Formats: sequence, C-alpha cells, structure tokens
Amino acid sequence: MRAEHRLGAGAGCNRAEPRAPSAGQGARTPELDRSTTPGTPDASPEPLRAGTRLVVRCEGMVHGGLCLAHADGATLLVDGAIPGETVEVALTFRKGRTWFCRVIGVEEASPDRVSAPCPYVGECGGCQLQHIGYPRQLELKREILLDAVRRAGVAVPEPRLHGMEDPWRYRWRGEFHVIPGERGLADATLGFNRARSWRKVAVDDCLIHHRSIAGALPRLRELVRRGGSPGLGVLHVTAGESGDELLLRSKPAAALARSVVDEMAATLPVGERWSTDLTTLHWRGRAFRVSPDSFIQVSWGQLDALYGCVIAALGDVHGRRIVDAYAGIGVLSAVLAGEAREVVCIESNRSAAAMGRLNARINEVADRVRYVVAPVESALAEVAGSGGVDGLVLDPPRAGCGGQVAGWLALAGPPRVVCVSCDPATLARDLHVLVASGPYAVDSVDVVDMFPQTYHVETVVGLSRQG
Ligand SMILES: C[S@@+](CC[C@H](N)C(=O)[O-])C[C@H]1O[C@@H](n2cnc3c(N)ncnc32)[C@H](O)[C@@H]1O
Repeated sequence: MRAEHRLGAGAGCNRAEPRAPSAGQGARTPELDRSTTPGTPDASPEPLRAGTRLVVRCEGMVHGGLCLAHADGATLLVDGAIPGETVEVALTFRKGRTWFCRVIGVEEASPDRVSAPCPYVGECGGCQLQHIGYPRQLELKREILLDAVRRAGVAVPEPRLHGMEDPWRYRWRGEFHVIPGERGLADATLGFNRARSWRKVAVDDCLIHHRSIAGALPRLRELVRRGGSPGLGVLHVTAGESGDELLLRSKPAAALARSVVDEMAATLPVGERWSTDLTTLHWRGRAFRVSPDSFIQVSWGQLDALYGCVIAALGDVHGRRIVDAYAGIGVLSAVLAGEAREVVCIESNRSAAAMGRLNARINEVADRVRYVVAPVESALAEVAGSGGVDGLVLDPPRAGCGGQVAGWLALAGPPRVVCVSCDPATLARDLHVLVASGPYAVDSVDVVDMFPQTYHVETVVGLSRQG
C-alpha cells in the first residue's frame, strides 16, 4: 500500500505514550487524513523518521505480536494491530531497514478487535495481544508456527490447537520489579518493564497472574517498603499449595529483611501462608516440591494440556527406557516413570536436579528415575551408549537444542523424539536438521497456549525415525 505521511504534531518516538486504541476509539484526526486515494499521482514523500505518521494495511503477524506492513519501500512492524486491518501508525524507532511503529488510529478494524480489559495495556510490556479476541490469538499462533516451519523446509501435518478455557489469571509465578518512589523504598511500588524498555510501570493488579499473587500485591508492596534495603530489584513470587501459599524470593536475597518477612507472615489472614524456601505444586495426584530458583511451567493449570500432548506423542512407554532431556524438576519424568522401565533425566542446573531427585522420592519412582547433571550436549551420546534410548523428550530453553544435539540425533537418535519448544524460530531451525535434511518425519504438531494475551506459544512436535 502506498502511504502518504507527515510528521504528526506531538507524535513522539516514545512508545510508552498513548495506548493502542480499541475498535471505535481509532477515528483519525482530520488534519492527519492524508492517505493516498488510489490513482492519485504520488507527491515525493518526505523521508521516514521517528514520529512520521502513515496509514498502512497490516499483513501477517510475526513472532513478537507485531504485524508486518510496507510503506514507501520500507518494512514496518506494527504494535497493536491485527492482520488485515488498515491502521494509522506513528513510527517509533528503526532497526536496520525496519521501522517499528505503534497504532494511533484504526481505519478499518478487524472483526476480531476487542477492547483490552487491562488498564496498563500500551504501557506495560507484558501482554501484546489483549486487543485481539482469544480464538483469533490462537489462530495467529498457529499461523506463526506454520510459517516458521515451512520457511525451514519442514513438512508438518495440520497443527492441533489447545487453548485455555479461561485465558486470564493463569500465571502461577511472577517477577515483579521493585520501583523506588520519591522517598526511595519507603514509597516503592511493584511492577513490570515497559515494552522494549528498561523503564518500569507500577501495577496494582495483573490480569494474567493467579488471583492469589495479584491479590497479595498490596501486602507485598508493604513488605518491600518495610523490609527492603537499597539494591532490592525484584520480588519473585510463586503460588503453591493450590494458591494458599506464596513462595517469595528477592533479588538480591540479602536486600529483603527475613525478620520483616517472618513478622508479616505471622499476621496473614487465616488460610494464607508465605514461604521463603520451598512450596508444593500438584499434578495428576502427585506432589512436586518447587524452589524459587528452579524452572517450572508457570501456567501450571495448563500443564496437563502440554504434558498430555508430550505423553501422547511419545507413544507407549511401557517397559521402555526414556530420556527426558532438559528435565527441570522432574514433573513429567515422575509420571513417565509410572510405566517406563527407566527415565534418565538430563539437567544441567544442580538445584533443579536436586529438586528432581527429591520429587522422584516423594512420588515413589526413585528406583526408575536417574538424574545426569550435565549439559545435554555432552551427556546425550553417553546416556544413549549406556543402555540405549527408546524415546526422547527434548524441552530446551528458548535457544533450542542447537546444532550439536540436533546433529547427533540426525546421526544416531532414537526411534521416537518429542520436541517441546517455546520459540517457533529455533524449533524450525532444529527441525530443519532433524527432518528437512535428517531421517525424521513429523507425525504430530500440537500448539499449546500456555500464555494467552501474549505472543508466547509452546509447540509439541512428535517425530519418528524413518528407515
Ligand atoms: C524449558 S526448561 C524445561 C524444564 C522441564 N522440562 C519442565 O517442563 O519443567 C529447560 C530446562 O533445561 C535446563 N537446561 C538449560 N540448558 C541446558 C543444557 N544445555 N543441558 C541440560 N539442561 C539444560 C534448564 O535448567 C531448565 O531446567
């Protein structure tokens, strides 16, 4: 679309300014109504710069929740839009040849546009998709995944979508920045980073955090005001025991007085507790001890959907030797060990591995769960060499498992591999090695939404070795 543009009065490059408008809020101001009528000869456009306003038609969405658009030979990434919409944007900053911009008016709204319920949308960097109806959010996640794997030359069956029944209040863990006020910690608040910024926004509630965490914010704010000392940066909160217990950790640990935590914990309402060392989460009738510094699936209520897809993709594990690579605190392994002959967990984080061993004992599967505390890159071949592998679960961090692990799997991997990934781009890169130029075929793809209202997405891919 050819877009006419001008420097909009007051349209600064600070993306923390006005919120992306919802449908109906987006009427353009008359003096900015400069979009080109089809057939009108082009006036020579002013060079693009921060603050320039343009009217553009949005194309697809990319990972990150931004819509692709083009204008005057430039590529734009639009914050706050929906594919297919015509929107007025203000350019905010440029990275290479791509301009980032935010919606300041909606010309032609998508039928999927909704009013974002959170008052901090547009300021807070936490949610990118609140302006989109939930069914369309799910479709967009599926399209982004398909686009990434197809670009990598990987043939996949139609992905199954697993959304949340209630796409709100699902985070069982939160990290709140401590924001000193005019009087330092004495009037500090708690909040999050602004989008693409280190600046913070204070919040009184967060609609994607578990009620027991969001409801405790006033008390937690009091805690950091009374017990914090200079340098206190983050309060890390996990909802354990079905939400009755909050596991607290400060960063740095020494910057929050333990005596104040204890004093306030002693006066909590009946039924509420604070812990500073461990808490317990439950899944499929089993209990798992959790420390503040080990990874957990923060959308604990959607855990069954995610791990259910992994278990289904792994197939029959009865009497088999399974490797759970990047195993964390051993939640999935404890359930797999109910049927498998042995589950070997490879995990490089010592504290997570210690928690995993404890969880295996608590769940009475310690005789069938073995932890190898080492990087997957160095341990996998050795584990496979000492007893074989019938099935492998790979659940790496965002960076994916990388060339060394994927390369070894392509040469000598087991008959069944299940990849769990939170990043379509690194998943597609790893699948390229395993499938497009390797011996595996994709049997199933499940897109599991663990993070509604945000661009984040988990994908479970079942692979079988051919020939
Ligand atoms: C995405 S988490 C998955 C954890 C677990 N599968 C779960 O669902 O809770 C990745 C885990 O891999 C561990 N990790 C990161 N890099 C690793 C590596 N190179 N080798 C082994 N473990 C690693 C992290 O400590 C973390 O526990």
